[in-house]
Amino acid sequence: MNTTQIGKISILMIEDDKLDEALVISTLERDGLSFEHTAIQNKQDLHTLLDSRPWDVIVSDYNLPAFSAYEVLDILEANNLDIPCIVISGCLNEETAVTLLKKGAHDFIPKHNLVRLVPAIRREVAEAKNRATKRQVEQALKQKEKLLNNIVGALGEGLAVTDAQGRILFINPEAERLLGWRNNEVSGLNLHRLIHYLKADGSPYPEQDCPVGNYTRQGIPYRTEDEIFIRRDGSFFEVSYVATPIRENDQVIAVVTAFHDISRRKQAERELNESRCRLRELSSFLQSVREEERTRIARELHDELGQALTALKMDLTWLLTRFADDQDEMLVKTDNMITLVDSTVDSMRRISANLRPGLLDDLGLAATAEWLLAEFQERTGVEYTLKISHEEFDFDNVLNTTIFRILQEAVTNVARHAKASRLDVELEDCDERIVLSIKDDGIGLIHQAASANKRKPFGLLGIRERVTSLGGHIDITGQAGQGTKIRVMLPKQVITEPLKEHDKSIAG
Ligand SMILES: Nc1ncnc2c1ncn2[C@@H]1O[C@H](COP(=O)(O)OP(=O)(O)OP(=O)(O)O)[C@@H](O)[C@H]1O
Ligand SMILES: [Mg+2]
Repeated sequence: MNTTQIGKISILMIEDDKLDEALVISTLERDGLSFEHTAIQNKQDLHTLLDSRPWDVIVSDYNLPAFSAYEVLDILEANNLDIPCIVISGCLNEETAVTLLKKGAHDFIPKHNLVRLVPAIRREVAEAKNRATKRQVEQALKQKEKLLNNIVGALGEGLAVTDAQGRILFINPEAERLLGWRNNEVSGLNLHRLIHYLKADGSPYPEQDCPVGNYTRQGIPYRTEDEIFIRRDGSFFEVSYVATPIRENDQVIAVVTAFHDISRRKQAERELNESRCRLRELSSFLQSVREEERTRIARELHDELGQALTALKMDLTWLLTRFADDQDEMLVKTDNMITLVDSTVDSMRRISANLRPGLLDDLGLAATAEWLLAEFQERTGVEYTLKISHEEFDFDNVLNTTIFRILQEAVTNVARHAKASRLDVELEDCDERIVLSIKDDGIGLIHQAASANKRKPFGLLGIRERVTSLGGHIDITGQAGQGTKIRVMLPKQVITEPLKEHDKSIAG
């Protein structure tokens, strides 16, 4: 604030001489000061008036009979009041002036020459107002700082503030608790070298390899959940942290790292992952056992029952030739038996093929897919197309079986749910992977509320499980009224899901 911005000034005048008071007032008026004043003569009045309201300035006579300017200054100091005090005196003495100024008087003006009085009042009032504003700002800042400290102290998240070179400026109580260090012990130490010098696999983590510096220098926060912080006692915890740069004038001046311990969560994730892997292995094992069992039953049905029925038919045919012409009844019965054996052989073949088509092992995947779809068309009347990218479309047993079972389930679903009139199947051999797409023009996938007495569906889930266990990818789309499409991509090189190296090292 400058002297021209001051409004009406309130003056507390300490003067016992009415003439001197009139002299001061006329000087103030002559020099154009806008003011109001109250004059007092003793200490008691001074106390009362200082308590009653704020004053802009005190103009005090140097020596009064009841008390002196020194006492005025003492009272101001004792009450912690920053009111400028200008002393007026008839006896100009340099030594006195210096003593008064040292004691806190703001100016010293001779009574016989008051020309400096108004400029001095204006200057001192302006300066006092500036000091008051500054005090208010400082007070507000202090309050904010206190609030901030309380928040940072109460935060359930560890905080470490470093300078642009990575030296610790401050850690909060939660960081102290997590790391085992006290704030005053780590101030000035390099944060990375103190708590971040090992990677999650236990190998050294040189500071130049740590991405925090790189990111924050560019003004970008860096966050991760794959690292560890090392405690004071050398033990470590898996940490989730975000390091955020603080910028001033385009310069990074500090980095705030907020972190928390995620060891428990990571351990739970590892256990879940491990149990998923085991479940997947178990599911694959069960699939293969089931497949072997089906193959064995299909073969035994075909070979043993098939042979026995063929032998039976041959014997019945032989028997036919042995009957006399008048044994009509026997002839008809035997003929019926031959027809029954034929239809039993057909049923047996169909059951055996459904369990595991021998075609798959003998003629390969393409021929089996063609057979499956032809059989489907015959049974349902739904037209199909089958597009196969290569004539030789045949893979190892696991892939052949997987693709066939997916196709079998999808085709069964079309027959059971789709109300389709058309089915398009495509098998593509694309270098590294096989792509199978099955598309119908039926009702699409309509959400149906699960009814209590209906068993849970497992067809699509089984398809997903088979695909995932081989490291493949599946998309199932089917908007209402727009048919359903299943697109499966399987790697030719089977990828199983071992535990990640990182997980092993932590778990171990
Ligand atoms: N091609 C399709 N068209 C329309 N709806 C389908 C199609 N395929 C699946 N669905 C719907 O998705 C549901 C789940 O299919 P999923 O194969 O998993 O079970 P399901 O066929 O009902 O029983 P499950 O296969 O276990 O014998 C089906 O009940 C059906 O509502
Ligand atoms: Mg199904």
